[in-house]
Amino acid sequence: MRPKLVVGNWKMNGSRANNATLLAGIVEGLGQGNGKASAAVCVPAPYLHQCADALAGAPLAWGAQDVSVHASGAYTGEVAAAMLADFGCRYVIVGHSERRAYHGESDELVAQKALAALNAGLTPIVCVGETLAQREAEQTNAVVGKQMAAVLELLDEGMVERIVVAYEPVWAIGTGKTATPAMAQEVHAQLRSQLRARSAAAADKVAILYGGSMKPDNAVELLAQADIDGGLIGGAALKAADFLAIIQAA
Ligand code: 13P
Repeated sequence: MRPKLVVGNWKMNGSRANNATLLAGIVEGLGQGNGKASAAVCVPAPYLHQCADALAGAPLAWGAQDVSVHASGAYTGEVAAAMLADFGCRYVIVGHSERRAYHGESDELVAQKALAALNAGLTPIVCVGETLAQREAEQTNAVVGKQMAAVLELLDEGMVERIVVAYEPVWAIGTGKTATPAMAQEVHAQLRSQLRARSAAAADKVAILYGGSMKPDNAVELLAQADIDGGLIGGAALKAADFLAIIQAA
């Protein structure tokens, strides 16, 4: 069985004071439990230094929410994968639907970002997911399949084994609407077989997280599905008690 992974995506939230309280609360809670799930937080880039200081030696990994495809140079405002690695990041989210929608990120660009992350020794959390209109038009499998295919085409087999995938139906993000466990499992199973077609080893190893209004009260049922290996948590990751309850469920 694949180990479970729960990742908080703070999005553009936080302040040094609030982060200190939240991180301390999570670490304290993790210290009390002896759960087997791994946990991480992906924070706004200015707070990576704070994570590196506050989480040294703690059972909570950290990461960023985006990365440049470029290694260095004249790219104002961009953050290179090597810089994230320099701050002790283990993870970086790539292709979140908010970046695809508001920053025009294409499937190919997202794949390039995953490659840049892997080249720097980071684990990319590759997000895929359909909009409500696409689901209603019965295009979910095609849309998610194409998003995944771009990544599988660019990465070599060994690299594919090192990614994490997150299925986040866009219509479930921040809306309080969750995919039913069966709906989520169906897409996760499709992603798993797509991985298997590329590499059997990767299909067995790669964690496929579910994201989209995952909360303490629906986490157990979602996480019980055969191909749901954890969660990518937005709103509920901003409260230590809720985030810990999801980790506990995992
Ligand atoms: P919510 O948990 O707030 O729906 O956000 C999910 C998400 O987008 C995580 O990346």
